[in-house]
Amino acid sequence: MNLVFLGPPGAGKGTQAKRLSQELGLKHISTGDILREAVKNQTPLGKKAKEYMDRGELVPDDLIIALIEEVMPPEGGVIFDGFPRTIAQAKALDEMLSRKGMKVDKVILFDVPDEVVVERLSGRRVCPSCGAVYHVKFNPPKSDEICDKCGTKLIQREDDKEKVVRNRLEVYRKQTAPLIEYYEDKGILIRLDASKDIEEVYRELKRVVGA
Ligand code: AP5
Repeated sequence: MNLVFLGPPGAGKGTQAKRLSQELGLKHISTGDILREAVKNQTPLGKKAKEYMDRGELVPDDLIIALIEEVMPPEGGVIFDGFPRTIAQAKALDEMLSRKGMKVDKVILFDVPDEVVVERLSGRRVCPSCGAVYHVKFNPPKSDEICDKCGTKLIQREDDKEKVVRNRLEVYRKQTAPLIEYYEDKGILIRLDASKDIEEVYRELKRVVGA
């Protein structure tokens, strides 16, 4: 089964993808996580991607498509989180999968209003060491600002600052939202009310993917 998690920044795609991929034994491919790691390690990809990410713009399609070709397991079984984000990426994914005799089975649209996005992103804290994600109010660590898993001090993502968040929402509307119609036309889009709490969203997610 290959799933795509689609939705605005901060909708909760990563939070749910981490959990569902573990439970179903799927590979979680987050282009955002891979790019952040590349930036941290100052790889050639990271150096090219950084300026786009800092502004909240999309990284060019050719870089992202090459990246997916590299990490895609030949047997499939993937949750794509934050990919595709443009029609060109969606078409490239369809071609890539069809060459291997596979397809995108379901696309889950994480539906949340803008004010929820802003609240979630302004309170998000991440572990710079192991990548765990928290929220100061909705999913706080046991000990203030310290990662439960590895004890590192949590930080705020640069692109979670208010001005960049506004641009990310704009970019989502212009470049990514057209994918809703693209997948609706294929009859594989499922809308999920992602404004509920983490547990409720997870229950509903499992139901719609048939897990
Ligand atoms: P990326 O990292 O993919 O950012 P995003 O899509 O904007 O998604 P986020 O990680 O911000 O949000 P999320 O939906 O995963 O929410 P989360 O679960 O963390 O991309 C970053 C950048 O990389 C892009 O701007 C772009 O530059 C580049 N990039 C990446 N992919 C690309 C591509 N394909 N093409 C081109 N460029 C690309 O949750 C958010 C917060 O809310 C957390 O604090 C969490 O604890 C909390 N939370 C989660 N669920 C709930 C809930 N139900 N109730 C209350 N709180 C909740």
